[in-house]
Amino acid sequence: MARMQLGILISGRGSNMKALIDACAGRDYPAEIALVLSNVASAGGLETARAAGIKTIVIDHKAYPSRAEFERDLDQALRDHGVELVCLAGFMRLLDKDFVKRWHDRMINIHPSLLPSYRGLKTHERVLEDGVRFTGCTVHYVRPQMDEGPIIMQAVVPIDDHDTPQKLARRVLAYEHKIYVESVRLIASGNIRPRGNKTASKGLKFPKKGLISPTPDDA
Ligand code: GAR
Repeated sequence: MARMQLGILISGRGSNMKALIDACAGRDYPAEIALVLSNVASAGGLETARAAGIKTIVIDHKAYPSRAEFERDLDQALRDHGVELVCLAGFMRLLDKDFVKRWHDRMINIHPSLLPSYRGLKTHERVLEDGVRFTGCTVHYVRPQMDEGPIIMQAVVPIDDHDTPQKLARRVLAYEHKIYVESVRLIASGNIRPRGNKTASKGLKFPKKGLISPTPDDA
């Protein structure tokens, strides 16, 4: 079967992109990376992608007089490279509704919280301030509102009393890599698709047991 063509959009270090690069190296993985695109020329992830022999393009938003013109070139580059699924992986530009509409159900994002809680930036700082016991990460289809759209996969990460935003970010990131790779696998293999504001899955098993935190020592 033809592998689904991915276009990955990054603005920084690109560790989620790297997780996808590693997954795509597997012979049975149903997707491959057609293009890595960044709006920041100095994004560390670009070097990682080039070292893996992946085509990279920089489209610097600052060089454009308007968001619409920037997004027109973004769209063109993705189409020129035959991209079927756009993966936002730490892409720190809000995308306008016209662009989002053009890629409706064909663009996904990873966010470091259990959406719909903690949209936006500084998620780990905010969960620690609020004293919640669990946080996590979410992969979702992209809709015009920021960090909104049908949820594909989530992972739950318990919070430790001694956590700092940095420690928590590290633990959450390890799960981001897992759920991003698995989400793309589900989409590319046709096991999940958006239905209304949710996603419908086929033949997938979900754990029935929940987690409780904090856990008494003798539990
Ligand atoms: C990740 O934690 C990702 O969830 C977050 O940026 C980081 C990028 O890291 N994205 C957002 O906050 C989007 N709202 P990476 O460049 O190492 O993949």
